[in-house]
Amino acid sequence: MKIFHNKSELSHLIDDFKANNSTIGFVPTMGALHDGHLSLVEKGLSENAIVVVSIFVNPTQFDNQEDLVKYPRTLETDVKLLKTVSNDKIVVYAPTVEDIYEGKVQSQSFKFDGLENEMEGAFRDGHFDGVGTIVKRLFEIVRPNRAYFGEKDFQQLQIIKKLVELYHIPVEVIGCPIHRAEDGLAMSSRNTRLTADHRIAAPFIYKTLNSAKTKFGTKSAKKVTEWVEKQFSKQPLLELEYFIIADTETLKPVKRKSTKKTYRAFIAVYAGDIRLIDNIALN
Ligand code: PAF
Repeated sequence: MKIFHNKSELSHLIDDFKANNSTIGFVPTMGALHDGHLSLVEKGLSENAIVVVSIFVNPTQFDNQEDLVKYPRTLETDVKLLKTVSNDKIVVYAPTVEDIYEGKVQSQSFKFDGLENEMEGAFRDGHFDGVGTIVKRLFEIVRPNRAYFGEKDFQQLQIIKKLVELYHIPVEVIGCPIHRAEDGLAMSSRNTRLTADHRIAAPFIYKTLNSAKTKFGTKSAKKVTEWVEKQFSKQPLLELEYFIIADTETLKPVKRKSTKKTYRAFIAVYAGDIRLIDNIALN
């Protein structure tokens, strides 16, 4: 498996693939890979000649320094896992901060038609400027035909689709279903940092999302939200940061339901000091 830490070396390989008209799939990650990431890589391999997997803990998208410092960095294990999928059709790009930011670790400021102001944007200062900056940079370096993102970060997925539209980036952005553990917990690199007790408590998040979905069939968004807040107030190990039912397109909170629109429920929860997010389609 080819592993690059340097964009100019990767670029030569990409040039060769482009010269042969080989299609390039791209799975950007921050490492600590799990089955969710592997399913994106597998989908990428089924649709492209090769898949580039970037592994880079992007400093500019963290609003919390402690979270950045403690974010798991497990390159060796990540590479081993990727080899179980394919040894010759996956290329790893694991750059240094310097290779990406060239001495200026700063994000660009973006407007994504207001998508950046909702939910994660409201609760994590500058997060989507950091995500926009790194994903745009990675798209310029990797020049993929298709890029794969998990729907767990649904808002991120919508924002990246908007980024591609606004900057006319020639890549197809493909959203992939959330990968869950058997007990329903959405897979996340952060799950490895949960204590045993928090790990046992965490599936309550998805269980509650499912009940909220059922309730949304007959009740208003306000009533469902109040119900969810009440359920979490009874959970000693989980602290609800937000539960929001939003329009799938605009991500704005729903005021009055319309049969012509689709909605999704979004949730962010602290399990100890680990922040978990999840979401579910409601109709
Ligand atoms: O979803 C992630 O892991 C990150 O936000 C991404 C897209 C790799 C950018 O750093």
